[in-house]
Amino acid sequence: MKKNDIVKSILGSRLDHSPLDSTVYAFAPTNIALCKYWGKRDAELNLPVTNSLSISLGNKGATTVIRMIDALQDRIFLNDVEINLDTFFAKRLIDFLNLFRSHHFFEIKIHTNVPIAAGLASSACGFASIVKALDELYQWDLPLSMLSVLARLGSGSAARSVWDGFVEWHAGIRPDGMDSYGEQLDVQWPEFRVGLLLVSQKEKSISSRDAMQRTMDTSPAYRSWPKKVSEDLQKIKQGLRSKDFKLVGKASESNALMMHALMLTAQPPIQYSTPETLLLMQRIWKLREDGLSIYFTQDAGPNLKLLFLDKDFHIVREHFPGIR
Ligand code: PMV
Repeated sequence: MKKNDIVKSILGSRLDHSPLDSTVYAFAPTNIALCKYWGKRDAELNLPVTNSLSISLGNKGATTVIRMIDALQDRIFLNDVEINLDTFFAKRLIDFLNLFRSHHFFEIKIHTNVPIAAGLASSACGFASIVKALDELYQWDLPLSMLSVLARLGSGSAARSVWDGFVEWHAGIRPDGMDSYGEQLDVQWPEFRVGLLLVSQKEKSISSRDAMQRTMDTSPAYRSWPKKVSEDLQKIKQGLRSKDFKLVGKASESNALMMHALMLTAQPPIQYSTPETLLLMQRIWKLREDGLSIYFTQDAGPNLKLLFLDKDFHIVREHFPGIR
């Protein structure tokens, strides 16, 4: 199954809509997975092996500003810098836009307020905001579940970034992935905080796409991952429903550590943590021993995301003044 076929079956006659003759804007939040997506059952369509669950980060994310231009090629800007169309970044974006357009070109400006490619899900909010902007530009008026499917074609975790709050991305079972989209959970928990602890803003050494594939192909422990995910997911959902922060924190941290353990057992091994990441983990565990309810999660990068409750914000900031 190809991305083009999926787009056709979702958009149908909407593919003939002409773009509006104006500039449109759309924002999508970045999301941090509490239960991770690690491994694809279909690499072309970004269909995951397991469900995953995330929290969207309010006003941290990406804004896409797009308009049709009278030109022979696109113009792409990332955080106010024009991007050379021969770069990997531009090619990936142009390929994505090609799924939706006929013969016109765009000026597309993406602004993010999260560091790019440092495990902070910038591609997730990027693709989600692009899809929302296209929905507006072409007046598709699609339900968010279908925007989630389209965003997934750009980057897997983007399927969760079309929503606010706590979101579960269903792996689905269909080969065409029509049942693989994000869904907002009916949980309101404004006291739940995520703090970014930046270790490095450098580009990651290996992309999450390649790291996932290598883990699936070579880690002898990967076969234990679906069971681990379903146990953690159950605990996290139960904890969210009953506002049991410890249950959510413990299962989330354990899930992230298992994902990184799988990577360490891949061939060649993949290690996103730096010595500083490990020292920070030890500090968090010590604080917990001393009674503070604080946990972490980690994605495909050296940075940690602290999980804690609003009431502990001041004490957390005393220990980690650089927290964002
Ligand atoms: O969507 P991708 O290809 O950037 O992969 C995201 C992978 C993790 O961030 C490590 C986990 C997740 O569920 O977000």
